[in-house]
Amino acid sequence: MNYLIGIDVGTSATKTVLFDENGQIKGSVSCEYPLYQPENGWAEQKAEDWRDAVLKTLKEVMELSGVPAEEVKGIGISGQMHGLVMLDEQGEVLRPSIIWCDQRTGEEVEDMLRIMPRERWIQITANPPLTGWTAAKILWVRKHEPEIYARCRHILLPKDYIRYILTGVFATEVSDASGMQLLDVPGRCWSDEVLEKLEIPKEWLGTVYESCQVTGTLLPEIAEQTGLSTEVKVVGGAGDNAAAAVGTGVVRDGSAFTTIGTSGVVFAHSSKVTIDPKGRVHTCCCAVPGAWHVMGVTQGAGLSLKWFKDQFCQDYVAEAKKQGVDVYDLINRDIEKIPVGSDRLLYLPYLMGERTPHLDPDCRGVFFGLSAIHTKAHLLRAVMEGVSYSLADCNEILKEMGVDVDQMMACGGGGKSPIWRQMLSDLYQCQVKTVYQSEGPALGVAILAGVGCGIYESVESACDRLIREDRVSQPSAEDGALYEKYHKLYQKLYTDLKDSYKLLAQL
Ligand code: XUL
Repeated sequence: MNYLIGIDVGTSATKTVLFDENGQIKGSVSCEYPLYQPENGWAEQKAEDWRDAVLKTLKEVMELSGVPAEEVKGIGISGQMHGLVMLDEQGEVLRPSIIWCDQRTGEEVEDMLRIMPRERWIQITANPPLTGWTAAKILWVRKHEPEIYARCRHILLPKDYIRYILTGVFATEVSDASGMQLLDVPGRCWSDEVLEKLEIPKEWLGTVYESCQVTGTLLPEIAEQTGLSTEVKVVGGAGDNAAAAVGTGVVRDGSAFTTIGTSGVVFAHSSKVTIDPKGRVHTCCCAVPGAWHVMGVTQGAGLSLKWFKDQFCQDYVAEAKKQGVDVYDLINRDIEKIPVGSDRLLYLPYLMGERTPHLDPDCRGVFFGLSAIHTKAHLLRAVMEGVSYSLADCNEILKEMGVDVDQMMACGGGGKSPIWRQMLSDLYQCQVKTVYQSEGPALGVAILAGVGCGIYESVESACDRLIREDRVSQPSAEDGALYEKYHKLYQKLYTDLKDSYKLLAQL
């Protein structure tokens, strides 16, 4: 039997999963690490933590599964997008990685717009300059930490740093590279024009591959340390969203998914480059060769619920421990008793600013409508509803752009909650489905590895063979009509608060 490994370098943890070629899980190991927020709106992680987590989980997954090393043919790596990893001449990490949800680069985005007009940015990179994307972060380090910038020789994305650790190769692939703002997205190659304008040396960036192309094999010391063979092929892999698309079978026009991980994303496959002129949703290359995707991103999705749970729900945490159940199952049980709209309570999930639809690094979270009747369960439900309103904003823009969606899947940690999926179904007014295989990005990149190793003929045929639908949430017209009223008020609240957010940021 052939085996494949998918690694997902997420924001809360790295998950490494070993699959047989029929998509059956033979072992799955996760390892968590911290997120550092040295200032309001900043977010960093240590690349060394990702490295240690990957090496540990690879070793453990091999031990756990007992699969013979020579039968593991390929590895795919997926990971959080946009993060900046800077290495020196010797390949040593120069500073903590500034990650996707960091919002410190407002000024650098302004600089980028002075260097080149917005329209040209959109023509080349398919997106306007964005605070969370890698290019603005590079400019921030150049401006604020010139001594570090002077020592920089390599720039990598989080998962591509892992590729370097595993194979010694400096490379990336089109889906993740799209989120650096340095790629010619329609042409699927680095943009010389952008690199010249920003004065970033091209040799600092890795070679760009398609997601299922082989980029290297395991270094002998890594093979020895993890119990794998040096023959294992490491393919391009994909940014976590493009990888989740493959892992949920979203690989043809008409198919889309909503993921609720730390961030929340509504993602639609597209066989052509489709751009929102207002830049509210991102257009990127997808992991299917020769195709693209559009995605709306809400910064604080699972992050909002995790934040609320960590800060205010120690009682739930203790009870879950006592009962030996998942804390989110207890939360789901309690919020089910709260009516749609949380008894007139709204939550704006802007803990880390917002991308879709506002592109506003300064906005922040709000509970609106608090009353003495509200309980903790009301607040928890309001958090989940607020995230759902934001995802509905993303979905509305895709509709407005004429991106046809006839199949909406759900994935990510939040996608496991039937009640959260029901909120999405009611707000989108369409069926929301899950797939039986719940590994999302890890399965997606394992499939890409299988294509790269010649085990599967194409990404699409592998998805047809391995992925099947599971649960379906049916939209309720009645609840949908009620949610729509709340959603309208939710949208108005941002407009009303926009100027106040700026004032708050200046305090
Ligand atoms: C997408 C994005 C997030 C990260 C984190 O643009 O920033 O979804 O990939 O998972």
